[in-house]
Amino acid sequence: MDLENKPTFSVVAENIVKTYQHGQSGVVKVLSQLDLTIDQGEQVAITGASGSGKSTLLQILAGLEQADSGKVELLERSMHQIPDRALARFRNHHLGFIYQFHHLIDDFTALENVALPARIKGLTAASANEQALHILAEMGLSDRLSHFPWQLSGGERQRCAIARALINQPEIVFADEPTGNLDQESAHQVSELMMSLCRANGATLILVTHNPQLASQTDRQLTLAGGALRS
Ligand SMILES: Nc1ncnc2c1ncn2[C@@H]1O[C@H](COP(=O)(O)OP(=O)(O)O)[C@@H](O)[C@H]1O
Ligand SMILES: [Mg+2]
Repeated sequence: MDLENKPTFSVVAENIVKTYQHGQSGVVKVLSQLDLTIDQGEQVAITGASGSGKSTLLQILAGLEQADSGKVELLERSMHQIPDRALARFRNHHLGFIYQFHHLIDDFTALENVALPARIKGLTAASANEQALHILAEMGLSDRLSHFPWQLSGGERQRCAIARALINQPEIVFADEPTGNLDQESAHQVSELMMSLCRANGATLILVTHNPQLASQTDRQLTLAGGALRS
């Protein structure tokens, strides 16, 4: 799936509604007619109280969860019209994810973890490893290639997770509290690397964070409250 003409909007969400059934007692309305438009290459921070629906919103935008109603377009493609298999491929080629907990594979080394999305994309082992080496070097992890996740510090694990998210040069990067578990210094280093690499690639970054200083470094700050976003 090639993107021959560079799209103007990377994300268009309209009228997103999401409720969760909570036991027998009723429904929790998480998102309520939410609208969001993001330009290609823009960096947007989303803040909001715990439980306000930030993770739910990212999951819906990324096609990992279904909204009850509304529409989501990424890179000018309607997410509803992409069948499951093609959606997995679309995500692998065009989207990157960074979570609060690194979600690296325990039995894989740093190099193997980072090379995996490139292997899934169809690169040979040699070229996937070459790209993984390159991006791990950019993350300052050249001397940690054969370390397993449990042998890395928290900051190193997150830098490894960023390398894995960015190896296929995604147009859109979703980061859900990526520095939430780190001490201040590691958090600073990790966020700098993530933001500068996204800028260098021209990638859109949608960043959920509780850190106002980090949020202020993005192009636009939004708050999720009462099921909707406001500036
Ligand atoms: N699978 C689920 N089933 C039921 N309720 C859920 C589920 N996932 C999230 N919720 C509820 O939806 C609300 C929003 O959750 P979440 O998106 O994780 O918020 P945030 O990331 O802003 O902390 C919370 O009240 C949470 O309890
Ligand atoms: Mg969350």
